[in-house]
Amino acid sequence: MSKFDHERVVIHTGPRSGLPVIVAIHSTVLGQAVGGCRVWHYGDWHEALTDALRVSAGMTAKCAVAGLANGGGKTVVALPNGMRLDAAQRRNLLHDVADVIESLDGAYATGPDVGTTPVDMAVIGDRTRHVFCRPQEQGGSGDSSPHTAAGTLAALRATRRHLHGASKLQGCRLAVVGLGGVGEKLARMLAAEGAQLQVSDIDQAKRVLADQLGAAWIDPDEALTQDVDILVPAALGGILTQQIIPRLRCAAITGPANNQLATPEVAELLHQRGILWVPDYVAGAGGVIHALTVELHGGTRDEAAARILQIENTVHTLLATAASAGITPAQAALESVQHRIKT
Ligand code: PHE
Repeated sequence: MSKFDHERVVIHTGPRSGLPVIVAIHSTVLGQAVGGCRVWHYGDWHEALTDALRVSAGMTAKCAVAGLANGGGKTVVALPNGMRLDAAQRRNLLHDVADVIESLDGAYATGPDVGTTPVDMAVIGDRTRHVFCRPQEQGGSGDSSPHTAAGTLAALRATRRHLHGASKLQGCRLAVVGLGGVGEKLARMLAAEGAQLQVSDIDQAKRVLADQLGAAWIDPDEALTQDVDILVPAALGGILTQQIIPRLRCAAITGPANNQLATPEVAELLHQRGILWVPDYVAGAGGVIHALTVELHGGTRDEAAARILQIENTVHTLLATAASAGITPAQAALESVQHRIKT
């Protein structure tokens, strides 16, 4: 039986929406737990709970490696498959979420995640102050996705340097899998750097973006197994499974999607295949670094941007440490998390 290592998990049926609202607080050892609010479709609420447990633990690691004085948590709302929310239902749901967060007395604060936006954060902000990334006009730090993309770009430079000796991404063969808020911005940045880009999304309408960027479009089914230098997972988690490992044709994997490994053992399998995996929580920390530096720790936007660029150094050090110790980058990152949290 796996060990339950979360501080607190609450599941409320939202009185207005009738939907299960799950808040998982993994750790507050370093400070207030933070993590976005995910509103997504699941087979049932058990699946949503599993997701919440995993991604909240991921947030603890993300904050620890980024040097933030915060712990990890996450909110997950399980929408039944196929359910669409109209404006009134959405508002009711967000108020339900806000009331659960408010009941936790500041142990946890939320932000945007898959399926939510800064405007949604403002609605949550009607009923609790423990919310990041409201629109700037409303006093928040706004959309975190450009900052997550900037941080991933920094991580990609370090990966490129580790593979080929220089960090320039021009000519680097990359496949960006997922063109949502972060993926699209990252693809734009990479195209501007002159990378040789392939892109993919489950939404065929995103093909227009591929054409705009001069990127090759790949079918989602084949996106992970392209012959590229670096694979960039930028959609939902769990995509790196034991089954897919033998079919991968990339030299490295560095992307912002949270919880990319289907199971922790996959890190070792990737290592055995000689594929470098940069932990998602290191590459994807830009958004949370920006929001927390500006809104919680009193820093300026320039300070936040400088901290985000530091991700290049963090990844460089991580890869060098892992290589010299003969361990996986995942193991090296975990050791640095444990060192900070001292568990
Ligand atoms: N979705 C963000 C992440 O996974 C969560 C977040 C962003 C939380 C900004 C707080 C502030 O890192």
